[in-house]
Formats: sequence, C-alpha cells, structure tokens
Amino acid sequence: GSGKFFVGGNWKCNGTKDSIKQLVSDLNSATLEPDVDVVVGPPFVYIDQVKNSLTDRIEIAAQNSWIGKGGAFTGEISAEQLKDIGCKWVILGHSERRHVIGEDDQFIGKKAAYALGQDLGVIACIGELLEEREAGKTWDNIVIAYEPVWAIGTGKVASPEQAQEVHVAVRDWLAKNVSAEVASKTRIIYGGSVNAGNSADLAKKEDIDGFLVGGASLKGSDFATIINSVT
Ligand code: G3H
Repeated sequence: GSGKFFVGGNWKCNGTKDSIKQLVSDLNSATLEPDVDVVVGPPFVYIDQVKNSLTDRIEIAAQNSWIGKGGAFTGEISAEQLKDIGCKWVILGHSERRHVIGEDDQFIGKKAAYALGQDLGVIACIGELLEEREAGKTWDNIVIAYEPVWAIGTGKVASPEQAQEVHVAVRDWLAKNVSAEVASKTRIIYGGSVNAGNSADLAKKEDIDGFLVGGASLKGSDFATIINSVT
C-alpha cells in the first residue's frame, strides 16, 4: 500500500446533538492503532460540537465545500470557513452528491482545486471510472476514495479482489496521467458497506490504503475495529 493507512467516517446526513455526543464519547474512549490517520465527517451543523469534544487524535472533515471564496452564495459553506472552525479535510465528489444532487466532474474539480488551494485535505470520491483528472497539481493532500455505487449503503461489499483490481487501475491511471511518484504515494481508500466483519480482509490487499466508512462509522466500537484492521 501507499503511505499511512487512512480511515474516514462519513456520517452523511445522520445524527442529533445527543447521538453525536454519545458517538464522540465512544470514539474518545476507544483504543486506536497509532499508525492510522483517522478522520470523521459530521454534518456541518455539528462540526463545532465535535471539534470541541472529540480527541485531537481524530481529525475532522466537512462533507462539502463551495467552489471559491465565500460571499453571496446562499446555503453554501466556504473552505475558509471550514478552516476557521478547525476542519482539516473535505469530502468531495461523493456519489450521493453526484447522483442525487447532480454535481458533475467539472464542478467537483473546481471545489477540489479551491479547497486544496486553501490547504484543506481532499477526500476525492470516484465511482466506477476515473473519468478525468479532477484537481490541479497539488496531489500531496489528496486521498482518493473508490466507492462502487452498488456497494454504498447496500450491505453488498466489494470483494477484496474486486476492490484491489480497481485500486490498481486507478494507480495505473495516476502513473500515466500524473506521475509515478504521485501514483505510488497517493492513498487509495475503499468505501461501500465496509463493516467490522469485512474490513480486515480488505485491508490485506496491497493497494487498499484505507477506508471511507458510512453506516458503520456511526457506531464507535465498530469504527474502532475498522481502524484497527490496519495491516
Ligand atoms: O462515504 C461512505 C460510503 O458512501 C459508504 O457508505 O459504508 O454506508 O456503504 P456505507
């Protein structure tokens, strides 16, 4: 694999002040493997609550950001604002935003470029194909999440072999279209029905450098098991 194992918990549009208080307390008391980058993505309105209560061991991601500087853009949140409240990462291009909300590669590319320019890390999600290069030159701060749409929230996890095959294809694409160095150091993580029972087998695969976890990240003990499946 490439770099440090990376596990993201994407809470999506879930949670209340109370349930998040519980989840944060479970995460604070969990024993986590030291050699894993751990990031959680609460809904915007709870980021401040999480930032003020969660251990510094875990970094925080937003689930979206605007394509540029803030201003008259009703309902949007800027990269600058995310940094201001202590967010280190942003999840961009998630399939729910592509397919439910209608964001396209060009729009997501603009968001990624702007967020990287503001020194946010980007968890860039792709579907079955990496259709085009989605961000500028700053690859250092990018983690690519491969999430087959049929595996998201369905309980139908990709087999370790299926995921490995696509991760290799993505890495090859990076080698051809960006550089060998970027290909070897970019972490390519898998998302789609990852749970405490299947993460260890997936983690064994050479090119699976971590996970983006949805449903199972809402339970602290399961999320800790997934984090600790690093090999
Ligand atoms: O961002 C996370 C993925 O969409 C996976 O969600 O683990 O609930 O299938 P899931």
